[in-house]
Amino acid sequence: MARVCIVGAGQAAVATAEALRTGGYTGAITLFGDEPHGPYHRPPLSKGWLAGDMQAAQLVMRAPEMLAKKGIVLRTGVAVMGIDRAAHTISLGDGSREPYDGLVLATGATPRRLPGFETAAVLRGRDDAEALAALLQRLKAQSRPLTVVGGGFIGLEVAATARKLCLAVTVIEAQPRLLARALPPLLSDWFARLHRAQGVDLRLGASAEGVDPAEVLLGIGVTPNDALARAAGLDCDGGIVVDAQGRTSDPAIVAAGDCTVRRLPDGRLLRLESVQGATEGGKAAAATLLGQARPFIATPWFWSDQYGRKLQMAGLSAGADRSVLRGELEGSAFSVWHYAGDRLIAVDSVDDAKVHLQARKLLDAGLGPTPTQAADPGFELASLLAT
Ligand code: APR
Repeated sequence: MARVCIVGAGQAAVATAEALRTGGYTGAITLFGDEPHGPYHRPPLSKGWLAGDMQAAQLVMRAPEMLAKKGIVLRTGVAVMGIDRAAHTISLGDGSREPYDGLVLATGATPRRLPGFETAAVLRGRDDAEALAALLQRLKAQSRPLTVVGGGFIGLEVAATARKLCLAVTVIEAQPRLLARALPPLLSDWFARLHRAQGVDLRLGASAEGVDPAEVLLGIGVTPNDALARAAGLDCDGGIVVDAQGRTSDPAIVAAGDCTVRRLPDGRLLRLESVQGATEGGKAAAATLLGQARPFIATPWFWSDQYGRKLQMAGLSAGADRSVLRGELEGSAFSVWHYAGDRLIAVDSVDDAKVHLQARKLLDAGLGPTPTQAADPGFELASLLAT
């Protein structure tokens, strides 16, 4: 393999490129990104950067010189328009073609839109963030409230940042509770209390009808960017279908990150939207191109920062039939331990980094305290890991 082309220049793209190098690949690697920016960190865009606590330079994930040192060519402002799988070429926005031996799709996801809300702000990339920052400034100058549509991670992080900037904020969530995709009701209620205590006008089970779209941030989820893969005839199902090794239905093409949906051994499809998913997926995809096996099997983890509180999630709690609380919801730190039968499947913690790391190790090892042990803050979790 002499030439690898990577479509995308975000977290998954960079992870794949660097894992190819650490895996010993010495051929050409080119990243094609349609944004004008090189690789940058997205998580601060709804938090520290939007609050004005960070310089633009701090967003940079890998400077072009750093990539160049690793022999990774970065082409920004270049959209990949098509894949010719038979000829092993991709076509670019300027009409030119590039040959590949191995192709990586790391195309990310796009914020969903609502009809009638074409002028509303969304938040995914740096340009979105600039426009949202300008909107917050305008609303503040006019003493107008910000309306956030969608009580998921993006909506709530932006709501918290806007409150920090002293804007009035209304959050409209269609479901009867916040963060229903990722969290159990106990934690949805905790976040609702947190936002209301911070002065947010929180409306659950509500509709955005009648709101001025020009004063709205829409945070109603994302759609994987799989159009390029679909047009090329790759297997897609709400994302580019891959296995744990990032393989698509074409042996010369792998995919990683938010654009993918992973086929589990039992046939179910799993979509993870996270920095870790991009990083681990990228490493798995790189290994596959190198003819090695490094399947993505690590416990999924995520985080969110709101009003100085840090939520960390290890594992997926969706299949839980029992959840126990460790510590007090009103306390400075607590965690919620989720079980399917006797098996620990996920741990959500607030302001307890130690418990989060221990939970990840336990879940990786297929271990866990009993629910009674988990609920006892005096029980030493480390004792389970020592063996
Ligand atoms: N009106 C109000 N709320 C809606 C509507 C609607 N028409 N449609 C969806 N929602 C709500 C959902 O019920 C959900 O609570 O919007 C929320 C979307 O939450 P997420 O799925 O978490 O998506 P989002 O917050 O947009 O985050 C997108 O960025 O930070 C990352 O990991 C995060 O991958 C996620 C991505």
